[in-house]
Amino acid sequence: MINKLWQKNVTPTAEIERFTVGRDRELDLFLAESDVIGSMAHITMLESIGLLAKDELETLLRELRSILGTIKAGEFVIEEGIEDVHSQVELMLTRRLGDVGKKIHSGRSRNDQVLLDLKLWTRRQIRDIADLTKALFDELQTQSERYKDVLMPGYTHLQVAMPSSFGLWFGAYAESLADDMLFLQAAYRMANRNPLGSAAGYGSSFPLDREMTTRLLGFDSMNYNVVYAQMGRGKMERNVAFALASIAGTVSKLAFDACMFNSQNFAFVKLPDECTTGSSIMPHKKNPDVFELTRAKCNKIQALPQQVMMIMNNLPSGYFRDLQIIKEVFLPAFGELRDCLQMTAYIVSRMKVNEHILDDPRYDLMFSVEEVNRLAAAGTPFRDAYRQVGLDIEAGRFTPHKEVHHTHAGSIGNLCTDRIRALMEQTLADCHFERAEQAEAQLIG
Ligand code: ARG
Repeated sequence: MINKLWQKNVTPTAEIERFTVGRDRELDLFLAESDVIGSMAHITMLESIGLLAKDELETLLRELRSILGTIKAGEFVIEEGIEDVHSQVELMLTRRLGDVGKKIHSGRSRNDQVLLDLKLWTRRQIRDIADLTKALFDELQTQSERYKDVLMPGYTHLQVAMPSSFGLWFGAYAESLADDMLFLQAAYRMANRNPLGSAAGYGSSFPLDREMTTRLLGFDSMNYNVVYAQMGRGKMERNVAFALASIAGTVSKLAFDACMFNSQNFAFVKLPDECTTGSSIMPHKKNPDVFELTRAKCNKIQALPQQVMMIMNNLPSGYFRDLQIIKEVFLPAFGELRDCLQMTAYIVSRMKVNEHILDDPRYDLMFSVEEVNRLAAAGTPFRDAYRQVGLDIEAGRFTPHKEVHHTHAGSIGNLCTDRIRALMEQTLADCHFERAEQAEAQLIG
């Protein structure tokens, strides 16, 4: 008699297998390259402490290099019945080399192996995100400088408020990215510590040379305490997710502004025709779908820290299989953010602004504060000047002077583009991405 929904002609063990392996055979492909590079460092260290012979090391390294080639060629698969990337690589080595392949796992557990893979992979991803964020930053600053003398309305409460400029608008998003980069740098530095050697979470009786693997892999340091190293699973992902969310928050706000300012009712900016999409019924439509999708995708990325936390938050110390599920939300997020950054940079660089928007009299009143300030500068106390201009407006006597003279730091007339650029460049330089890259290149040989 069938008493379980899932009980058919399959044995329960196969179902358990399916459930516990989950999406690892697909998702672990993201980690394949890092898994092999991590193994190269691990076995190099094993040889140095006498757990592998020199010729065994050479043979294994040669084979791992060949597996790396398979991965780079896009031909690596995790076979049916094989649980994860770690098992697949070990299987390939034992198939090709016999017993020597079985030696690579001394002093290691899949727990520190997957920790290491995630850190090596994430490190690389952060670098790519940083590059694309910088590219968007550059486009924004270019547009900011190009249109620094073109005024636009500024709003509070979505009510016409004070003069702003396209220079300020583009430049604001550039500066926002410079701040976001601080989070990315912090996340990178925390990710860039070596967990290898923590094994199942409690170290090993082999005299592992963890300084050596730290150096070989170009980590800034190690996670010293082996229990803490294992606690990094989930913590690293959460911290990096916060950094991604910070960037995504900037991009989604920009996307909303761009959609709104592109609407006919605002008409401040014009998205290039080739970047808009049409309607199946309304022949005149040029919709800003790219920015709408960007907005939604970036909002989704802003939920990533919460997703990671909901999965791992209340776990005690030590490894749990729960952690495997984080990969499902964490790994795909980088590609999505990369896509949004690229699209946004592409459109921003082609965006045209409406240089005559302020000819429209509906914006006249935003020059009221300029008038108050002019009177105040000429000696009228501010509150009296405010009242006088207010009464003129009510009586329909207000005529705007449309040229503005803002000179202080960060204002329409003084954007501080170079100083903002210096902040961004300093933060990027302090990441020292090149160290990890050089170490990996050397290890691969
Ligand atoms: N797929 C597992 C993960 O992502 C790998 C570690 C398995 N370790 C274990 N003790 N079952 O967490």
